[in-house]
Amino acid sequence: MKLFDVYPLYDVEPVNAYDSIVIDKNGTEYLDLYGGHAVISIGHSHPHYVKKLKDQVEKIGFYSNAVQNSLQSKLAEKLGKLSGYEEYQLFLCNSGAEANENALKLASFYTGKSRVVAFDNAFHGRTSAAVAATDNAKINAPLNKQQKVTFLPLNEIELVKTEFEKGDVCAVIIEPIQGVGGLDEGSTAFFTTLEILCHEFGVVLIVDEVQSGYGRTGKFFAHQYHGITPDIITIAKGMGNGFPVGGVVIAPHIEASYGMLGTTFGGNHLACAAALSVLEVIETENLIDNAKMTGDYFISKAMRLPGVKQIKGKGLMLGLEFDFEVSELRKKLIYDKHIFTGGAMNKKLLRILPSLTIGKREIDLFIEALQDVLVVEKVGL
Ligand SMILES: Cc1ncc(COP(=O)(O)O)c(C=O)c1O
Repeated sequence: MKLFDVYPLYDVEPVNAYDSIVIDKNGTEYLDLYGGHAVISIGHSHPHYVKKLKDQVEKIGFYSNAVQNSLQSKLAEKLGKLSGYEEYQLFLCNSGAEANENALKLASFYTGKSRVVAFDNAFHGRTSAAVAATDNAKINAPLNKQQKVTFLPLNEIELVKTEFEKGDVCAVIIEPIQGVGGLDEGSTAFFTTLEILCHEFGVVLIVDEVQSGYGRTGKFFAHQYHGITPDIITIAKGMGNGFPVGGVVIAPHIEASYGMLGTTFGGNHLACAAALSVLEVIETENLIDNAKMTGDYFISKAMRLPGVKQIKGKGLMLGLEFDFEVSELRKKLIYDKHIFTGGAMNKKLLRILPSLTIGKREIDLFIEALQDVLVVEKVGL
């Protein structure tokens, strides 16, 4: 059997990794500033994470959601404490798309309505409603296009109000900082008015923290920079440090009923062990503060690089916008400098999504390598 060929691949095969270093099958070490697409939160193969997963799999790795699993409530309690959402409820699933799919479904159940408002350049995943709320016609099949979604530009609150006034909107879904789209974000005035309008018109406010959550931006959730409290928050990527796990964090006024949502694998013992150990490391190693501090250090250094037009994002969810397309630059960084970075829908943006454990030394190495590629090899200049 052949693989279904949907991914254009770089010619690198990682076989080993620790902290921010990835080692390929030839023994070459790479500095990982991409975190496997913002997934690695506490560093590759963190010893506490490895031990917790090993211990758990030796006891029990999985049983169905038809029986008690106290690891799930332990995880919900810890997540509530660290995020400041102790009164909220947690539904566990397996990925970011699944978290958003369940969030949208929940909003529709709750309001009895079905139209969704999403934003230009948004990315929310590849399943039915999640992909319909993703602003990319190429990844929406005719089946997905049956969903009712209205896309609006960010920061145009009057347009949001006009849509809400039509009375058929169940949810608005928004990334606090756009990931795949290219690090654009709404202003605090936009987010606070959006929250007010959601209350006024009975629309569920879903904040997609799949990429920006779990401390990546220097706060547990990126929306906390704006002082809003969403009805639903979705989480995934950094939550399991590579173990597939996602979650829907739900306000108390949205009540559960049996059968409303469900999953076979979501919240299994191994996923909970992974997610709990991630939170433990985030707390004991002060990784949220480190994300803020190292992110600020990165920005101060990157501002002086040639060809950089703008630096977008917060903490360790960053984008360097150049005045040229960055695909060649990324290739040079991988093959010549052995550094992983990310791209975006905005072709001129280089994305930086490292582990939250990263320090100044690694940032200096990266800046030096990037400077070299930009000036010595004159990529894009
Ligand atoms: C903001 C956001 N939401 C949802 C998703 C989808 O997550 P997954 O690939 O785990 O389904 C992504 C993935 O990049 C994302 O960045």
